[in-house]
Amino acid sequence: MNTAPLLRMQGVGITARDRGNQRTLVRGVDLTVAAGEAVGLVGESGSGKSMLVRSAMRLLPRHATATGHIDFEGRSVLGFSRRELAAYRARDVALIHQDPRAHTNPLRTIGDFLVEGVVAAKLLSPREARTRACETMASIGITDPEHRLTQYPHQLSGGLLQRMMIVAALLPSPKLLFADEPTTALDVTVQSEVMAILQEQIRERNLGLLFISHDLDLAAAVTDSLAVMYAGTVVEQGATADVHARPLHPYTAGLLACRPSATAVTRLKPIPGRPVSAYEVGSGCAFAARCRFAAEECRTDRPQLRTVEERLVACHRVEEIGARLPEEVRS
Ligand SMILES: Nc1ncnc2c1ncn2[C@@H]1O[C@H](COP(=O)(O)OP(=O)(O)OP(=O)(O)O)[C@@H](O)[C@H]1O
Ligand SMILES: [Mg+2]
Repeated sequence: MNTAPLLRMQGVGITARDRGNQRTLVRGVDLTVAAGEAVGLVGESGSGKSMLVRSAMRLLPRHATATGHIDFEGRSVLGFSRRELAAYRARDVALIHQDPRAHTNPLRTIGDFLVEGVVAAKLLSPREARTRACETMASIGITDPEHRLTQYPHQLSGGLLQRMMIVAALLPSPKLLFADEPTTALDVTVQSEVMAILQEQIRERNLGLLFISHDLDLAAAVTDSLAVMYAGTVVEQGATADVHARPLHPYTAGLLACRPSATAVTRLKPIPGRPVSAYEVGSGCAFAARCRFAAEECRTDRPQLRTVEERLVACHRVEEIGARLPEEVRS
């Protein structure tokens, strides 16, 4: 039996050429996703979440390069031949995007959209693919599947179209799903419906999920473990319940404090300043300029991830300030 996790990323870095300069976008990320496990990747805009996912599918833009180890079931994704890569993308992994309308052709029917991938990869015949698509639609609560096949994307609401993306993703029976902000474009009620569908499918099919979001509360609701990214590096990583209830990195605490709560009436505290990209970071902690706890060493030495209370945290001052952070979030 293969006991390797589905996805194992070790020391993954991503650089991109920009007008002759080599820019670091992601640095030293370690991440694993096992079958049946949901892992969240959380951080503000530009922190490198999408780049990391694209590297795991070998879908980086031409001028960008990934280094380090990216293994799928123990095989090196970066070492895949063209043929292995095509098979990997067609049946092992699937990607669900933030904006379904941007990833459908307005002139083609939902039926064509759903079946083209699996038919082109010769996984199913057109007839089998349509039958399977209808069954999958029914299994996630989409009514009148036969009729849906004949409709065009503009005839579907955003929530329904995103559910069709999930159907398309599930059709080849992949082992691992990448969901890059799958509900950001949806309103809150539809968002929770889509998340419930994803969770149910993970359970029923024993899928791995890498769920990307800028919303820590949302990610916490659906994942087993979390990696919080800032400026291209992971700053805190561990079991979701721990990280969410007792953040140890000031950035994680900041993400929790700046989000509206449905149950408590508290004042929102935005994180001051703007997020930076990995290539803008000097020798110190990337978050130091925005951190109210930053001390001298934070501005000069980059903190490495280290084990603190059964998780990984990259903060020099965690022993002094960690215990105070949950209170900071609530006050
Ligand atoms: N095609 C590209 N070429 C070069 N650099 C890029 C490209 N796309 C994004 N970047 C840069 O890579 C870094 C990481 O971007 P990425 O899109 O992965 O962030 P993200 O965390 O997904 O943000 P968002 O929440 O906005 O989707 C940023 O500095 C961004 O400017
Ligand atoms: Mg992104």
